[in-house]
Amino acid sequence: MIDLRSDTVTRPTAAMLAAMSTADTGDDVYGEDPTVRALEERVAGLLGHEAGLFTVSGSLANVLGVRSLVAPGQELLCEERAHVVRAELGAHAVTQGVTTRTWSDPRGHVDLAAVRRLMTPDAGPYLVSTAAVAVENTHNFAGGTVQPLDSLRALRELVSPVGVRLHLDGARLWNAHVATGVPLADYGRLFDTVAVCLSKGLGAPVGSVLVGPAAAIAEARVWRKRLGAGWRQAGVLAAAGSYALDHHVDRLADDHANARLIAEAVADVDPAAVDPSAVETNVVILDVGERAAGLVAAAAEAGVLTGTVGPGLVRLITHLDVSAEDAKRAAGVLAGLLRT
Ligand SMILES: Cc1ncc(COP(=O)(O)O)c(C=O)c1O
Repeated sequence: MIDLRSDTVTRPTAAMLAAMSTADTGDDVYGEDPTVRALEERVAGLLGHEAGLFTVSGSLANVLGVRSLVAPGQELLCEERAHVVRAELGAHAVTQGVTTRTWSDPRGHVDLAAVRRLMTPDAGPYLVSTAAVAVENTHNFAGGTVQPLDSLRALRELVSPVGVRLHLDGARLWNAHVATGVPLADYGRLFDTVAVCLSKGLGAPVGSVLVGPAAAIAEARVWRKRLGAGWRQAGVLAAAGSYALDHHVDRLADDHANARLIAEAVADVDPAAVDPSAVETNVVILDVGERAAGLVAAAAEAGVLTGTVGPGLVRLITHLDVSAEDAKRAAGVLAGLLRT
């Protein structure tokens, strides 16, 4: 099977498992796990922030980051397909009392005019006050799109004077960094809090890191425990994350090339399904209308797993466990099915 459903399906490599098995550990609830602390400091440094917190998931890192910026009853603005609003099962509302309003952009980009229109900081006793904007980079459901750096800078200039703050869901920020060459810290410093995942394209089995100001991260540490997600000898997991940072960042370029290869093969037989030049990272979305469910089922029978992400939309994500050969085979299967 070639599994293109998500980049979360990777298995730890033998070398990663070896790094995990020799990790130095301690009780992380007491702040005594050296491998966790090293990972937290490293990721904070990479993103240009003061402190970091290792969490079990990207969803938890997002909840803890957003809650540090948005009080119960205040509002978070984001794009309508953002993971924080569409795919975290309402966690921000259910656990933190955060309300959301959204803008819509075909590529998932920040729409500065929409933010300007929606944003109502200090809205008084009647309307909901906007406290923060969340940006996703790369944007998963929009097709792994990269947020243009200029527009992120303009967003920072727009919100700072009115005290609205910024959270970055950077689950795949590594992909944006590799695709554009923009240093991670150039992205990171534009945001008050940043969540990055180690268990997507980087191939670690578990883990995300939230970074931000030291005081916010100290508070997030309390909330992580409060929500039942404090952990003990988590260094075995942090070691996988550190290994992934050492060995699996640059190779994301291979995933991007493989995604482009698949998109080109599909566009050759069905140009309406995908524009290969719009494939910027490791996500390909095929717009195949009523054929979507049939395509997913037939591809699975032919050994290629994919998924749907909306009406008529089939998503493929390349990753560490998909070789160039696998990508060619998957491209052949999909092109063959769409040709018939
Ligand atoms: C953009 C984005 N943010 C956050 C998450 C949440 O990560 P997790 O599944 O670790 O909670 C995902 C998961 O796929 C994601 O794609």
